[in-house]
Amino acid sequence: MDLNSIKNIGIVGVGVMGPGIAEILAIFGSSFDFSIKLFDISSEAIENAQKRMEEDFTKVESVGIFSSDDLKVARDRIQFVSELNDLSESQLIIEVIPEKIELKQKFFKEIEGIVSSDTILATNSSGLSISEIAKVTQNPERVIGTHFMNPPLLMPLVEIVKGAQTSDETIAVITDLLTNVNKRPVLVKKDIPGYVHNRLQAAVFRELMYLVDNEVMDVNDLETTVRYGLGLRLPVMKVFEMVDLMGIDTIKNVLSYLYPALDRSIQPPEFLEKMIKEETLGVKSGKGFHDYTTKDMTESMREKEAATFQLLMMMQQYD
Ligand SMILES: NC(=O)c1ccc[n+]([C@@H]2O[C@H](COP(=O)([O-])OP(=O)(O)OC[C@H]3O[C@@H](n4cnc5c(N)ncnc54)[C@H](O)[C@@H]3O)[C@@H](O)[C@H]2O)c1
Repeated sequence: MDLNSIKNIGIVGVGVMGPGIAEILAIFGSSFDFSIKLFDISSEAIENAQKRMEEDFTKVESVGIFSSDDLKVARDRIQFVSELNDLSESQLIIEVIPEKIELKQKFFKEIEGIVSSDTILATNSSGLSISEIAKVTQNPERVIGTHFMNPPLLMPLVEIVKGAQTSDETIAVITDLLTNVNKRPVLVKKDIPGYVHNRLQAAVFRELMYLVDNEVMDVNDLETTVRYGLGLRLPVMKVFEMVDLMGIDTIKNVLSYLYPALDRSIQPPEFLEKMIKEETLGVKSGKGFHDYTTKDMTESMREKEAATFQLLMMMQQYD
């Protein structure tokens, strides 16, 4: 199988992530003429997804890169269906249902009985084992992880995750597809928990939480440290480039005294439990590490997405 054999794509689960993945494939896959069908067990989820999709297409049109005619063609490529069986002609299925291994295994078993034996079965899992999901299937070589970031329309990174038995052919087709729809796929060669992106994020979170818990620095100063130190460099500099600039001998000397001093907790810090008990849950309760009671978060997120897009355009000059 190659990319040209993919004509029908089925996306299952239209909550937070599913619709954005469909939009990306429809908008950027114009030269491949994919037809994309979306299915969800909840009619309410489908209604919400349809509404959100209209808003997203309006948002994309306002950026001015695509003509309204092209976007109409892309929109018409996407269809919501009411039965899982309607996906039987798919050469690629992308599963975007909740992050529970039992649910995903049950779904993979079910879909296998509906599609052809060479249909690629991808999961958008954030970190579950691809090999564990694949083991319930007859053809684990065509099971693969495609971990899109949120929001899929904006975030270029997609982790392609290889299970123990995923074939090179499956990896090649998915890499080709994602590259052609303007994504920046990376290959996670070993199926480890959290894959790579979420492990990096968790490592940063662990150290930040340690610094808060041990009263080394206040939250606002930590934000400044990340944003105006390390964070400011990252859009224009590669991490290993920074290491090279410091010099391998210097970094080795620094890491040899710093590694033993870094947090090595294997449980989230206890103060998070206290925050949960006090209903300090973040944006959803109005207060977390920061206060959101006076902010319109929808408006603020919209502005931040637009700014991220500008940053992305600039960043690509430094690849
Ligand atoms: N939300 C994020 O920020 C994010 C980011 C990256 C990856 N992911 C991953 O993407 C996947 C989906 O996450 P989400 O946030 O979109 O979830 P969600 O809960 O918003 O949506 C899941 C949808 O799946 C539907 N569903 C459940 N079981 C189903 C079934 N058997 N068949 C068809 N539809 C079914 C639900 O009705 C719901 O609409 C998860 O594996 C998650 O870890 C999420």
